[in-house]
Amino acid sequence: MVSFTALVATALALVPSAVSAPSGVEYSSTHNSLATRQNAPWQWWTEGSGQFSCQQQGGGKYSCSWNGQQGGGMVAGTGWGAGRKTVRYQGQYNPKGPGYLSLYGWTRNPLIEYYIIESWDVLAPGEPWTLRSNFTSGSANYAFYTAQRVNKPSIEGTRTFTQYFSVRSEAEKKVGDVSGTINTADHFDAWSRAGYRLGNFEQNMFFVTEAFANGTKLPSGTSTITVS
Ligand SMILES: *[C@@H]1O[C@H](CO)[C@@H](O)[C@H](O)[C@H]1NC(C)=O
Ligand SMILES: *[C@@H]1O[C@H](CO)[C@@H](O)[C@H](O)[C@H]1NC(C)=O
Repeated sequence: MVSFTALVATALALVPSAVSAPSGVEYSSTHNSLATRQNAPWQWWTEGSGQFSCQQQGGGKYSCSWNGQQGGGMVAGTGWGAGRKTVRYQGQYNPKGPGYLSLYGWTRNPLIEYYIIESWDVLAPGEPWTLRSNFTSGSANYAFYTAQRVNKPSIEGTRTFTQYFSVRSEAEKKVGDVSGTINTADHFDAWSRAGYRLGNFEQNMFFVTEAFANGTKLPSGTSTITVS
């Protein structure tokens, strides 16, 4: 068990994205508030029933396996200070059912939850998505969607807020061996051009494996991802 104080100290030391965490660390932060989880350099949260197992392996690497039952879900991945940054990831991602491989974070004023979704098996949003624009970042093509969440958990407690989603084009999406470079500034600027600005980055952003049950669609799979 890594103490939360140690996690925060590690998070503050990250410049800008390399993660030097002890290897083989496995712990649950399920009991922590969302705001607390967003300050850590490693996110590991589950809900509902199913088997979820994730390990942080040091150097920004993590691995997960999951088999969710009805109502079950998880989010796990590597975090670092949020903002305009270039993030590289590579590894294996083998999902079945709903979930994403994505960069994810929050801003305040306005309160926004944002995602840059690189891969998935089943895209099954909890709320309807509205297409706002299409844009490119380097040679990658994305669609930009927004959704409204009403009275849902946020870093400020239960609130109503907007979610922003960049979603890699279906044709470019890969499963199995995955790798890529995300320039977050390209996304933030594209969202702003479409009329959707972000607020202040106050906490970490994460490159996560997220999996969740949506009705009868259950998630299972494995991932091993290194973020740098
Ligand atoms: C499940 O996904 C569908 C779209 O595939 C969506 O309309 C529905 O709201 C989702 N339900 C939940 C509980 O997430
Ligand atoms: C924008 O992205 C959506 C979703 O991938 C796609 O259906 C649509 O054709 C795209 N539009 C353009 C102009 O590329």
